[in-house]
Amino acid sequence: MLKKNFETVRLMSNENPFGPSPRALEAINKYSKNIHCYPNWKPQVLKEKLANKNHVSPTNIAVSAGSYELINLITRFLVGEDEEIITFDNTFMAYSYSAKRNGRKCITAKMSNPDCNLNDLIPLCGNTTRAIFFANPNNPTGTIITHDSLLKLLETIPNDVLVISDEAYFEYVTDGSYPDSIQLQKEFSNLIILRTFSKIYGMAGIRIGYGIATDNIVEKLEKFRLLRSINSLAEKAAEAALDDIDYLNRSADHNDHERDYLRKELTKLGFTVIPSQANFLYLPFNDNDHKNKVVKTLADNGLLVCDLAIFGHDKSLRISIGKSDTNQRIIDCLSQGT
Ligand SMILES: Cc1ncc(COP(=O)(O)O)c(C=O)c1O
Repeated sequence: MLKKNFETVRLMSNENPFGPSPRALEAINKYSKNIHCYPNWKPQVLKEKLANKNHVSPTNIAVSAGSYELINLITRFLVGEDEEIITFDNTFMAYSYSAKRNGRKCITAKMSNPDCNLNDLIPLCGNTTRAIFFANPNNPTGTIITHDSLLKLLETIPNDVLVISDEAYFEYVTDGSYPDSIQLQKEFSNLIILRTFSKIYGMAGIRIGYGIATDNIVEKLEKFRLLRSINSLAEKAAEAALDDIDYLNRSADHNDHERDYLRKELTKLGFTVIPSQANFLYLPFNDNDHKNKVVKTLADNGLLVCDLAIFGHDKSLRISIGKSDTNQRIIDCLSQGT
């Protein structure tokens, strides 16, 4: 069999192509000899660091085994059996999956374009609505909800409806109209912000994330979290990663530059590419066959992108922003025609 002389690259899960900060790796190395010991009940040092960084109190920080754990805890324990959640139809699937798995109803607002318009959620809110979930930037479209539209939603809906702003990609945002959600959280006790170490921090495999909410909500989430679900290496790696500001800045700058490059070059090749504020690009197609060909051509060349058909959206794909040489490979490969 012919040996292909290219490296296969994962561009389907929006991971940091540079991996974790060397400081996180050092911490994992250092603490790996202690893994016979149980982790702390509460990752207090990490909570304090996150509180300092976000200008809130440690009692406003709920650390978790990734955002998935918080999404699950919210749908399972903060939404009652007869209550429902609302989200969009082209967003991160974990919200509707989690509702389904926990036997909660999920109502979705249809998106007529790649933007998540919060005004479309308001008429869906009824007496049994307990939580609204959205991703900002949105996965998979990469679009953002602005400060003004989030403020309007919070002012309009009843304050016993939880609003969950999933900000997994917020470090990549450059648009000035992006919400100051920490400030809004101080004014609106029903706002919960989700953040993660899985994306820009490059630590998806070790499972650690956090939420920012009122003391009361944090207390409930911590009460229901599985005992010791945060492993000690994730805790120490996250603490170390927070100190590596240069690494974060370099990752964000690289993404900004390469996102621009890839979008411009793909557009020149005739693709529709939605302007993105995240670390991926969303490409809608008119024709499913064309999309399938693009996915296959890239895969045949070791470039594994996300065919969004797996989430029920046939005519679209999502490409994570890679290193410069990877992005160049995408363009070279698609320049041959599809
Ligand atoms: C919007 C959004 N939130 C959360 C996550 C998952 O985060 P975690 O790895 O912290 O569970 C993803 C992963 O793709 C995502 O796209």
